[in-house]
Amino acid sequence: MRDFLVAGNWKMNGNSTANAELVAGIVAGVPEGSGFSLLVCPPFPYLASVVAQAQGSAVKVGAQNVSEHESGAFTGEVAPGMLGDIGCDYVIVGHSERRAMYGETSAQVAAKFQAAQAAGITPILCVGETLAEREAGTTEMVIDEQLDAVLGTAGVDAFATAVIAYEPVWAIGTGMTATPEQAQDVHAHIRGRLAEQSAGIAAGVQILYGGSMKGENAAGLLTQRDIDGGLIGGASLKAEDFLAIANAAAQAK
Ligand code: PGA
Repeated sequence: MRDFLVAGNWKMNGNSTANAELVAGIVAGVPEGSGFSLLVCPPFPYLASVVAQAQGSAVKVGAQNVSEHESGAFTGEVAPGMLGDIGCDYVIVGHSERRAMYGETSAQVAAKFQAAQAAGITPILCVGETLAEREAGTTEMVIDEQLDAVLGTAGVDAFATAVIAYEPVWAIGTGMTATPEQAQDVHAHIRGRLAEQSAGIAAGVQILYGGSMKGENAAGLLTQRDIDGGLIGGASLKAEDFLAIANAAAQAK
């Protein structure tokens, strides 16, 4: 059986004081039990201090973005090796905000995915459709294009050390959560797409749901067969809210 991963995407929020308080609250409230892990993804400047603060606890640390390049003249970019160097375990790649606002293409996301893995960092690959795409009935087509870009370059075996996050764009930060059934349908589709190439890899890969997940709706989502955790934005900024989802994961096991 797959473990749950409950991941907080802090986006561009916080400061030293607020972050220290948030991490302390999360570390102090990690639910008892096994079968799940917790992850926080702060903005770059705070990664090292959050790594230090979370050391020895059950809370892992990840970044929100990474360069596809190893090193060199790429002003303003952060290399995957640097993330490993300071103790990051994960990195989010292809978040819809990066695709939409910074023009990241699926090919570029695939390159970031591979660069992260080469540096020993586990990529969390985000995929998801916009409302217009859902209404046009193209959800699966959109997801397939985003997924195939990575499958085509990295190969299915790369998903042995990767996480996928299904994040319907219309549900992100809107309070409009996908229903458990809507989410489950897409999660099953994603797992099926991988299973066409490797049943073993498909069975093992964690697929997280993201988009207005909170304490009140977490249990309904996490008890779906193919939902293995959450990528949480808004509700990851308060220890109490994040822990409510962590508790739902601990109980859903
Ligand atoms: P949200 O964000 O939980 O605030 O909807 C999720 C995400 O963008 O990862």
